[in-house]
Amino acid sequence: MFEEKVGIITGGTSGIGLATAELLAKEGMHIVIASRNSEKGEEALSVLRKWSPHSLFIKTDVTNSQDVKNLVSQTYSTFGKIDVSFNNAANTEAASNATHEFKEEDFDHLINVTLKSVWLCMKYQLQVMTKQNSGVIVNTSSMDAILCSAGTGVYAAGKSGVIALTKSVAQEYGHQHIRINSLCPGAFRTPMLEERFSNLSEEEKAKLNESYQKLNALGRIGDPIEAAKAVKWLLSDDASFVTGQNIIVDGGIGFRFE
Ligand SMILES: NC(=O)c1ccc[n+]([C@@H]2O[C@H](COP(=O)([O-])OP(=O)(O)OC[C@H]3O[C@@H](n4cnc5c(N)ncnc54)[C@H](O)[C@@H]3O)[C@@H](O)[C@H]2O)c1
Repeated sequence: MFEEKVGIITGGTSGIGLATAELLAKEGMHIVIASRNSEKGEEALSVLRKWSPHSLFIKTDVTNSQDVKNLVSQTYSTFGKIDVSFNNAANTEAASNATHEFKEEDFDHLINVTLKSVWLCMKYQLQVMTKQNSGVIVNTSSMDAILCSAGTGVYAAGKSGVIALTKSVAQEYGHQHIRINSLCPGAFRTPMLEERFSNLSEEEKAKLNESYQKLNALGRIGDPIEAAKAVKWLLSDDASFVTGQNIIVDGGIGFRFE
């Protein structure tokens, strides 16, 4: 279904992004992965090229408009089209500081990396997709946007913005055969989650692990491939009548809080 299609995956060098890139590369898609770290980019690319020899890595900071513009224009000039995009890159740097101690520059960083990045990606991708009269986009939100737990404030706000932006922009471009949805992951075992564990004592790690396992109905942390499969479906023609939706893949956290 993805043979000879062209897709951009931001944050495609690790975690959910890399799992999705591998899944789509195996289906014959030409993938352009984008992230800030060239070393990790080249490493991921060498894996993807086993299945998809024309895939590329383009060094990109998704908070930088010039970088995002370049990512889209280089993809378009190389392949002559952009069929799909998974706007997935983000980080949680400075996300856990208490609100009264939160620095203004950290607020700006978190909103830029969670929300502005997605807006920038869509802005430039839609310039190509509107010319093609076709395209599919998935933006990554987070269950933090829905749960709004204590301590997640600015990150949760940015990720809530991703859901709102996705719904609104999907309404705007549906008539041009462009579908846009968001993925809303719960807890997945990726470098981002591992980072939360990295500064903890063994006892604290065990406690956090236990709380993650109690967090959802399935009683476990997700594997990135389980998110990737949902993204693959959203990007495929099997989801041809699905747009403006926030698809929750969280092992059942949501219904425990209803
Ligand atoms: N892992 C989870 O439990 C979880 C839960 C909810 C939402 N998410 C979201 O899923 C997405 C993927 O995260 P992940 O868990 O796979 O983490 P990850 O750290 O493995 O992947 C994040 C990717 O984004 C890239 N990145 C970060 N900042 C960037 C920037 N400014 N410019 C370009 N690239 C940048 C990183 O290099 C990396 O490739 C993120 O949007 C994250 O917020 C993850």
